[in-house]
Amino acid sequence: MSINDNQNIKGIILAGGAGTRLYPLTKITSKQLLPVYNKPMIFYPLSVLIDTGIKDVMIITTKEDQENFKKLLGYGDEWGINIDYIIQKKPEGIAQSLIICEDWINDSSVALILGDNLFFGPDFNELIIDAIYKNQGATIFCIESNTPERFGVLEFDEKSNILSIEEKPEEPKSNLIVTGLYIYDNNASSLADTLKKSTRGEYEITDLNMIYLNNNKLNVKKLDSNYSWLDTGTFDTLLEASNYVKNLEKK
Ligand code: TTP
Repeated sequence: MSINDNQNIKGIILAGGAGTRLYPLTKITSKQLLPVYNKPMIFYPLSVLIDTGIKDVMIITTKEDQENFKKLLGYGDEWGINIDYIIQKKPEGIAQSLIICEDWINDSSVALILGDNLFFGPDFNELIIDAIYKNQGATIFCIESNTPERFGVLEFDEKSNILSIEEKPEEPKSNLIVTGLYIYDNNASSLADTLKKSTRGEYEITDLNMIYLNNNKLNVKKLDSNYSWLDTGTFDTLLEASNYVKNLEKK
């Protein structure tokens, strides 16, 4: 199954960033070009978008690394899609991607995926396609984590309504965290334009999601235990991801 051609949605992969936690692996190359078992990392988020049926993909990179991404992926002919590239001058936050891509997004909706996030599970594409069809505002995907303090954490009231999302809280109010795949309606860029930088100097995706939440336009889909989500930003999680893919391919 794939989304209809008349579904007006484009995909963005965020493959910039500094990759400081993987230094010195990331001293001369980008994190998203590093191997996860037998493929460069960016193949995984790109496959998520391709499997969903998205035909227009923008890859955001640093200035230094753009050429290598072009060498690796070209302009998408191999997969029957269009790949464009744009430079993020400084890593000033995930939400900045929507500002940088505002003209390119034009009148479309957007599926935004982080270049170092891997998703696995049965019919994952159908889950996303369903979310795209149903999306009214924004849709985020959450999953249980043993280390919620490293991520955006959801807070619920006693009726399971979401009260807030806290970015890297010292004392997480739940173990449900927001993964790096987001679906937005066509208002995302203009809403991102209104964001102020956080104390760590970034346009925070959590702040954008909070705007949708406060407007009653944030849908949350929980990925159950059939699904795996791997964030490959540290040495341990990068190794874990390679081992995970190795076992999956053996099966
Ligand atoms: P992070 O892992 O939060 O940041 P990073 O990749 O710079 O790594 P580190 O914290 O070790 O320095 O980023 C998540 C993903 O989003 C990753 O694929 C890089 C991407 N990203 C950008 O493209 N631009 C940005 O401004 C930020 C903050 C992240």
